Amino acid sequence: MKHNIVVVDGSLGDSGKARVIDYLAQEARVVVRFNGSGNAGHTVYHNGKKYVFHIVPAGVLYPHIVNVIATGVMIDPIALVDEIKALRAEGVRIEPDNLKISGHSSVITELHRIIDNYEEDRSNNRIGTTRRGVGPGVVDKVGRRGLRMEHLLNNDKIWEGLGSWEDFRDIATKYRLANDYHYDIGRHLIEAGEFLRPFITDTSLYLHKAVNNPETKHQILFEGAQGPLLDIDHGSYPFVTSTNCVSASAAVGSGIGPQHLDKVVAVVKAYATRVAAGPFPTEMPIDVADRLREHAGEFGSTTKRKRRIGWLDLPALKYGIRVNGVDSIAITRLDTLSEFGDLKVCSHYTINGKSYEELPLDHLDLFDAVPNYIGLNGWGGDISGAETFEALPKAAQEYVEFVSDFVKVPVNYVSVGPNREQMIVRNV
Ligand code: IMP
Repeated sequence: MKHNIVVVDGSLGDSGKARVIDYLAQEARVVVRFNGSGNAGHTVYHNGKKYVFHIVPAGVLYPHIVNVIATGVMIDPIALVDEIKALRAEGVRIEPDNLKISGHSSVITELHRIIDNYEEDRSNNRIGTTRRGVGPGVVDKVGRRGLRMEHLLNNDKIWEGLGSWEDFRDIATKYRLANDYHYDIGRHLIEAGEFLRPFITDTSLYLHKAVNNPETKHQILFEGAQGPLLDIDHGSYPFVTSTNCVSASAAVGSGIGPQHLDKVVAVVKAYATRVAAGPFPTEMPIDVADRLREHAGEFGSTTKRKRRIGWLDLPALKYGIRVNGVDSIAITRLDTLSEFGDLKVCSHYTINGKSYEELPLDHLDLFDAVPNYIGLNGWGGDISGAETFEALPKAAQEYVEFVSDFVKVPVNYVSVGPNREQMIVRNV
């Protein structure tokens, strides 16, 4: 690798970032997860086996890579221990020399998960969260009363961070918990802390050394979670996650300077999907969506929920590219579109009689948007064996070029299947 590369999503998440990370990691030395939490599910097919990651970076599948869970990741220590144990059971080596966890990461406790579930169940205006406790965890983090991973190294700090028994009694009443549940939460955190202790370190210092070390310099991959339209600041608020998901958060979340983010690759699925509630103007009619969903397995990796499916939304993609700052696009799932005859992509919207080439200021106006489509030819044949761009049917090449021209960013990677070798690389 010649550059440190940040891999982010082009719009709504679930684009196959881990698959692109897995491909690029062949030449990398360090892979860093810098944002998100256990809400993310990253699927990788490796030697015919399927692996699902939540916060462990996908680089652990390679023996030559050091993986970092950096400060910007909200960590549920109990879920992380389970994830590490499950990966080890699959034969994946995870030890303190190949996985480093930031002591400055904020902790999600069982209570945060309980609150997330409670709020989702009682709200009429459901966001449709993944119920992993991310929102309530972030509330405690920014309220400056949360636990951090470094606190797991000292049991007294765990109890201090959990707050007093008296405070917990009120919480227990509100969420119908046993009064001694507080004790269980602390005990489980202590157990998880014991397991994770050797992995917890100053990852900013580790990365500072890595960006300056000739052996690892410019060979660092930053693995983003979610996508710009789910970003707490730039997404379709309030139908967003509670953390930042844009490329710039790779610097903040990792604790290194932005000058070390050499290139940004946005991963863009050849069609659109959205999990849970929120505006989705290009959503397909249910019968068409059902057909594609079954064929493509479009179910959430974390929650198994059905993903909503739509045509590629180019104004949304333009926005994602703008707020991420993108040098290169990786288009994934092009093979899935072989299912269709004619294809379409949304070029602009009409909202209350007015034409919009960009997203409206209030993203929620997209609930009233009528998409305007451009028709493109389908190719209708299997492309999963294509090894070069030129080997793709003309119409498939035109689809890719159309997207690239529209958003004015080169498409350097085209994925035509889940396996590592099913990645066409061009002009890199
Ligand atoms: P939370 O992050 O669990 O609070 O969920 C907030 C919103 O972000 C919901 O609409 C989720 O479906 C969505 N979301 C969170 N993580 C992901 C992801 O990895 N992919 C797609 N959507 C996600």
